[in-house]
Amino acid sequence: MKYEKEIGRRRTFAIISHPDAGKTTLTEKLLLFGGAIQTAGAVKSNKIKKHATSDFMEIERQRGISVATSVMTFEYKGCLINLLDTPGHKDFAEDTYRTLTAVDSVILVIDSVNGVEDQTRRLMEVCRMRDTPVIVFINKMDRDGKNRFDLLEEIEKELKLSLHPMTWPINSGKEFKGVYDIHNKGLVLFSANTKADDSEDIIVIGDVNDKTLESKIGERDAAQLREDVELIEAVNGDLNIEEYAEGMVAPVFFGSAVNNFGVREMLETFVKIAPMPRSRQTSLREVAVGEDKFSGFIFKIHANLDPKHRDRIGFMRVCSGKFERNKYYHHVRLDKDIRFSNPYSFLARSKDVIEDAYPGDVVGLFDTGNFKIGDTLTEGEDFFFTGIPTFSPEIFKELVNKDPMKTKQMEKGVSQLTDEGVAQLFTQFGGNKKIIGCVGELQFEVIQYRLLQEYGAACEFRTLPFYKACWLTCSDEKKLQDFLRFKQQNSAEDKDGNPVYLAQSEWFLNTEISNNPDIKFHFSSEVHK
Ligand code: G4P
Repeated sequence: MKYEKEIGRRRTFAIISHPDAGKTTLTEKLLLFGGAIQTAGAVKSNKIKKHATSDFMEIERQRGISVATSVMTFEYKGCLINLLDTPGHKDFAEDTYRTLTAVDSVILVIDSVNGVEDQTRRLMEVCRMRDTPVIVFINKMDRDGKNRFDLLEEIEKELKLSLHPMTWPINSGKEFKGVYDIHNKGLVLFSANTKADDSEDIIVIGDVNDKTLESKIGERDAAQLREDVELIEAVNGDLNIEEYAEGMVAPVFFGSAVNNFGVREMLETFVKIAPMPRSRQTSLREVAVGEDKFSGFIFKIHANLDPKHRDRIGFMRVCSGKFERNKYYHHVRLDKDIRFSNPYSFLARSKDVIEDAYPGDVVGLFDTGNFKIGDTLTEGEDFFFTGIPTFSPEIFKELVNKDPMKTKQMEKGVSQLTDEGVAQLFTQFGGNKKIIGCVGELQFEVIQYRLLQEYGAACEFRTLPFYKACWLTCSDEKKLQDFLRFKQQNSAEDKDGNPVYLAQSEWFLNTEISNNPDIKFHFSSEVHK
């Protein structure tokens, strides 16, 4: 392999969580360990402030700031770690789903008090589609949380994931004394510490039967710990790294991110087991990560809404070979060659123009409208990276053109905005009613604003009674067409002409599914099949 050394040391991952579980806090602690920042508080939460949820311009402003920290790169123990940030706001969940297509593994943060929450479930569904390896960090152990066995059971059941505790907590809340490191057989005693240094109180003990345990944590807790650990060891044995790499088993760490407790144990394990960039499937063949020729894909597009800085940035993940500045690459969908004179990395400190990048890296490319989510760049070969899904929107509205003189502008605008992934566009079957689908209300405001500002097209939205879009396939084309005609009110085409059923409710959807056994209802669609 030509770039073996570069590829071998890269670890590209994302931290995912339900808002407020502690993603930002954990990110900051990891960056402190990696020396990418020096002081706590340096990472601004990209969480959209609660009071600003109705003001999308404010949200966009904050999002603009967060672009700079979209990818944080730091080194730890010889590894070059790319941490891809994901938006905290629910309305931007699509952005997060797409970011997950660009990572090789994830760290899932769970709040020990709240357990598995809505967003956790959704995000894990996306991870499971790609068998993404997961490490679980159970946070806020300094608060009175759920019983730890119950919590593990809840996670296993709800997220359909086998868990493998690597550390085990001694109590929680005010009584929280620390964790026992099952793998290294050490006791890490808890002390509130907001700095990331090596001052964690680690006591290496023989094992859990060591007689000094009593003197450290007291008789009652020592007895309980022995009982717990015996049970866990009997069930789990050693961590099977292959099963982790296949996304079947997730190592679990307990800690408190705000107190910088338990984070280092997790990071140490992360650099040992997290996968380096791997080969990826395309529409043509599997592209090996070690191939000499460059390939990569766009997984996210960020448009700046500030009229003074109207620019778009395409986020490209390098999948094979070496990406170089000023070299011509083949834009497969447009069948044209383009080069980038100012590609930049998102290194934590500043936006630096880069000369080259390797598999696992994310490069920011200035875009004047050439890119669409899922676009592939190569050195000439024609293929698309697959496994970039589109999910059903949650809110559907009819797009009404308020100024018929501006129809063309409106169509161009809608087409470009949906290419960026701001929303999805459906056209009602047999008619031309345009339906916009989004994950959150905010996007409708964004679309209305941008259509007017950037394309001079005024629009309004009419709420539609749909709750989900399902993509339809059927081996019998006639049956499918009959269904679409019969269910005209609920049938539409997506932007690429794929048939879609828009369901009013779960009941309607289930009824149609059972009435039409030959038709397959899919809850997501592939950008490239
Ligand atoms: P997020 O990015 O996942 O949305 O969560 P974030 O890190 O912003 O954390 C959400 C809140 O939880 C923050 O408090 C943070 O300080 C707190 N937190 C994080 N880790 C722990 C922990 O281990 N223990 C406890 N008790 N709290 C933790 P906040 O009041 O919302 O914000 P702030 O004013 O403290 O920044």
